[in-house]
Amino acid sequence: MVQRVAIIGAGVSGLASIKCCLDEGLKPTCFERSNGIGGLWRFSETTKSGRISVYRSVITNTSKEMSCFSDFPFPDNFPNYLHHSRLLDYFRMYAEHFDLLKYIHFGTTVHSIRKCPDFSASGQWEIVTEANGEQKSSIFDAVMVCSGHYAEPHLPLDSFPGIRNRFKGQCLHSWEYKDSDDFKGKRILVVGTGNSGGDIAVDLSHVAAQVFLSTRSGTWVVSRVSNQGFPLDMVFTTRFANCVEWLLPSVLASRIKRKKFSAWFNHENYSLFQQKSQELHLIVNDELPSCILCGAVVVKPNVKEFTETSAIFEDETVMDNIDVVVFATGFTASFPFLEESVQNVCKSKTSLYKYVFPPQLEKPTLAVLGFIQLTGSIMVGTELQARWVTRVFKGSNKLPQVSRMMTDVSKEKELLMKRPILVKLPTGSKFLRQH
Ligand SMILES: Cc1cc2nc3c(=O)[nH]c(=O)nc-3n(C[C@H](O)[C@H](O)[C@H](O)COP(=O)(O)OP(=O)(O)OC[C@H]3O[C@@H](n4cnc5c(N)ncnc54)[C@H](O)[C@@H]3O)c2cc1C
Ligand SMILES: NC(=O)c1ccc[n+]([C@@H]2O[C@H](COP(=O)([O-])OP(=O)(O)OC[C@H]3O[C@@H](n4cnc5c(N)ncnc54)[C@H](OP(=O)(O)O)[C@@H]3O)[C@@H](O)[C@H]2O)c1
Ligand SMILES: *[C@@H]1O[C@H](CO)[C@@H](O)[C@H](O)[C@H]1NC(C)=O
Ligand SMILES: *[C@@H]1O[C@H](CO)[C@@H](O)[C@H](O)[C@H]1NC(C)=O
Repeated sequence: MVQRVAIIGAGVSGLASIKCCLDEGLKPTCFERSNGIGGLWRFSETTKSGRISVYRSVITNTSKEMSCFSDFPFPDNFPNYLHHSRLLDYFRMYAEHFDLLKYIHFGTTVHSIRKCPDFSASGQWEIVTEANGEQKSSIFDAVMVCSGHYAEPHLPLDSFPGIRNRFKGQCLHSWEYKDSDDFKGKRILVVGTGNSGGDIAVDLSHVAAQVFLSTRSGTWVVSRVSNQGFPLDMVFTTRFANCVEWLLPSVLASRIKRKKFSAWFNHENYSLFQQKSQELHLIVNDELPSCILCGAVVVKPNVKEFTETSAIFEDETVMDNIDVVVFATGFTASFPFLEESVQNVCKSKTSLYKYVFPPQLEKPTLAVLGFIQLTGSIMVGTELQARWVTRVFKGSNKLPQVSRMMTDVSKEKELLMKRPILVKLPTGSKFLRQH
C-alpha cells in the first residue's frame, strides 16, 4: 500500500500534488530546492545554472478564468491575465488556504531517486536529498516528479556558423534575459519566435535602436483580446471547439483556423508566415504586430551565418552592426536526479503513458507531472494529472497492462506525426496532448 509520497518541486504541479495526496489520504513530503513556492512564477533578479528563470515583464498567456485550480477561484479584483507577481500571490493564498506549507522542505535539493533493491515487490524508492550541505537518504512508497522543464536552455550554436569564433558582440539565451535595462540604443537580433522570442523582441523594442526578429518556420500570432473583448481562451478553449476540431478533416480544420488567425493581420505581409505546409505554431502577443508595423521590430528569416559584426540571413540579406544576439530557442527537459533507465524514458514525453507514467516499471509508483504542452492552461492540466496519479498510487484507479500502455504510447506517437497541426492549437481542452 502506498502511503508516503515524495514530491519533487513546489511549483504549480508540486502544490497541486500535495493537495491531491491529502485528498486521497496519502502522506506527502515535498522537497523544494529554493526558499519559496511558485517555481517558474517566483521571479528572481539573478540566474543560477540549472534553475528556472523568467523575465520581468512576463504575463500569463492563459486567462485567470481558465487557469485556476478547480476548488480555488482567483480573487475578483485580479485582472484576467496576470503578471508573475500576481500569480505568485494566488499560489500563496492557495497554499495557505489548504495548509500545504508544512509539508514542504525548503532549501532541499533532490540528488538522486533510485529503485529500492526489492522494487518489483515493494515499488519503493530511495531518495537522497541535500540541505545545508548535508545529505540524507529516505525511503518513499511513491514519487511525483514536479521539477519543471524550463530550467535547461536549448542553445543550438552549432546551427549558426560564425557565432562561436567570429561574432564579436554579446550573445545570450532568453533564459538569462531579465529586462531591457542594459540594452538601450543597441542593435539587437532575437533568434526564435516562440512566446519568449516574441515577448523579448517587444520588450527590447522600447529602448533598442533596432530589433531584428529571426524566424525559422514562422509563427501565428494571436491576441489575448478575443471576440468582443473576451480573453482568447474563454472563447476558444471550449468543448464545442474541441469537438469540431476532431470531427473535421484536418485540412479543413486548419484552413478555418488560418482564416481566423489571418483576420487580425496578414501574416505573410508581416514576414511571419513562410510555407503553406508549415505546422501551426502559435504565440500570444498583443504588441508584436504593431511593433512590426512601426518598424521597431523587423522580421527576418533564419540566420545563415554570423561575421564579426553582422548576421547573414537565408535570403542573403545582411544586417550590420549587430551588438547583441538573444537566442530565444527554447529549453531542453532534464531529470538529472532519476536513475538512468527511468531518466531515458522520461526525457521524451511521448514515451510516457499519457505523458505521465513510465509504462515499463514493475510498479506504477513514479509519475511525471506538468510535462505537457497544452492548448489551454498547464495549471488546470497538472491538477487533473495529480488527481489521477494519486488515485493510481492509492489503488482506486488501475493502469492497463504494460503491453496495452506500450501500444497506446506508440499510437500516440503516430498520431502526433500525422496530425501535429491539431495538437498545436489553443482550441479545445485536449489537455493530455502536446506538441
Ligand atoms: C515564460 C513562461 C511563461 C509561461 N506562461 C504560462 C501561462 O501563461 N499559462 C500556463 O498555464 N503555463 C505557462 N507556462 C508553463 C509553466 O511551465 C507552468 O505554468 C508552470 O509554471 C509549471 O509548473 P511546474 O510546477 O510543473 O514547474 P516549475 O514552475 O518549473 O517548478 C518546478 C519546481 O521544482 C523545483 N526543483 C527542480 N528540481 C529540483 C530538485 N532536484 N530538488 C528540489 N526541487 C527541485 C524548482 O526549484 C521549482 O520550484 C509558462 C512557461 C514559461 C517558461
Ligand atoms: N507569456 C507567456 O505565457 C509565455 C512567455 C514565454 C514562454 N512561454 C512558454 O514557455 C515555453 C518556452 O517558450 P520559448 O519561446 O522559450 O521556446 P519555444 O516555444 O520552444 O520556441 C523556440 C523558438 O526557437 C526556434 N529555434 C529552436 N532551435 C532553432 C534553431 N536551431 N535554429 C533556428 N531557430 C530555432 C524555434 O523555431 P521552430 O519553430 O522553427 O522550431 C522556435 O521559434 C513555451 O511553452 C512557451 O509557450 C509562455
Ligand atoms: C499584402 O501584400 C500583398 C502583396 O504585396 C498586397 O497586395 C496586399 O494588399 C497586402 N495586404 C495587406 C493587408 O497589407
Ligand atoms: C502559453 O504558455 C504555455 C506554457 O509554456 C504553452 O504551453 C502554451 O502553448 C502557451 N499558449 C499559447 C496559446 O501560446
